[in-house]
Amino acid sequence: MRAQFDSLVLESMAVIERSCYNDGLCHFESPAMSLFAPLQNDVYLRALRRESTPYTPVWLMRQAGRFLPEYRATRAQAGSFMALAQNPELATEVTLQPIDRFGLDAAILFSDILTVPDAMGLGLRFVEGEGPIFDRPIQDEVAVQRLEVPDMARLQYVFDAVTRIRTALNGRVPLIGFAGSPFTIACYMVEGGSSKEFRTIKTMMYRRPELLHHILAVNALATTAYLNAQIAAGAQSVMLFDTWGGVLSGAAYEAFSLAYMRQVLAGLTREFNGVHIPVTLFTKGGGAWLELMADTGADGLGLDWMSDIGSARTRVGSRVALQGNLDPSVLFGSEAVIRAEVRRVLDAFGPHAGHVFNLGHGISQFTAPETVKILVDEVHTYSKSKNI
Ligand code: CP3
Repeated sequence: MRAQFDSLVLESMAVIERSCYNDGLCHFESPAMSLFAPLQNDVYLRALRRESTPYTPVWLMRQAGRFLPEYRATRAQAGSFMALAQNPELATEVTLQPIDRFGLDAAILFSDILTVPDAMGLGLRFVEGEGPIFDRPIQDEVAVQRLEVPDMARLQYVFDAVTRIRTALNGRVPLIGFAGSPFTIACYMVEGGSSKEFRTIKTMMYRRPELLHHILAVNALATTAYLNAQIAAGAQSVMLFDTWGGVLSGAAYEAFSLAYMRQVLAGLTREFNGVHIPVTLFTKGGGAWLELMADTGADGLGLDWMSDIGSARTRVGSRVALQGNLDPSVLFGSEAVIRAEVRRVLDAFGPHAGHVFNLGHGISQFTAPETVKILVDEVHTYSKSKNI
């Protein structure tokens, strides 16, 4: 069984054309896709295409993570978060854990947005209680000039995980690939880790904007190549996480974040082996800019909990699907509160096609797993009963 699985994975990967990974623009021909099992649940993909669905699909940002005891066990086995992310077999195991436990409508690759700057040679470490740290941040002109699009072969462990996960899913639900937005990964690259004020990157932005533009241009090319390689390896939809675009002024958001997400979108493989690959953009704190985001040609937009999903839908109409909106802290409430808050979001979105239920940001590590069962049950039963 194991040998058969491994040979299927290897066979799938061997036929993926890897020679043009670095230009970000090439189109892959991959007969590998025919080796994947047909999709049994396409509700998530249909919702992103704004087609009617029998119920509202649901998945949760950071659904594979520390709130699950089985994740913590696999992570302990791997030794560290990065060792887990770099081991395709264990990454597959943790990706499937929330699917097995909760009956979600999509799986998301287990990895991180910081794998790309890590492959650029910045030296990524995760320090308990402090989050990510880069040993070699990009803080002066010499470091900026040295920055290059990494050889995608350094990220092969991610593409191998994608193929292995897609194979293991066996068509149960679609697989989402992802990357950080060029601006969001630049925040970590320039700050050297997490930040509250973003003083270093904002100083660069207002004193040496050309340096930041150079970093962002490199990041946009790298992100395009990275996502296209995930698509070639089996990702059926991709998402760009712009976690920090919302810390910018409107003008700076357009120039330093949105402009580079547009570049990524322009270079993405949008149809692979005859199948449309939907793209979702999520700018946390980006509620003011939804129309601009909808104009990028993305299929879906992520919404944090600060926006009202009903007014968001009125503003963007059926141009894009909307995903998200439930405050992750709702999962600290009672069963009755969770069910009522889920219904509130579904009612606010209204009787339209094009809603993917999700949280407004990643699930907290302090969430009790049983609450997610309640959430998923309420999304499915209530949306089915309303026949949206
Ligand atoms: O959603 C999923 O289940 C897929 C996996 C996923 C991870 N990170 C795993 C992870 C995804 C989609 C991400 C994206 C990511 N990573 C973002 C964008 C989304 C967001 O949350 O805003 C960002 C900003 C990062 C950077 C990052 N990675 C930070 C700041 C941290 C440390 C803080 C934290 O929550 O621990 C990580 C580590 C990380 N990435 C963990 C997981 C499960 C926790 C690591 C652990 O197991 O200790």
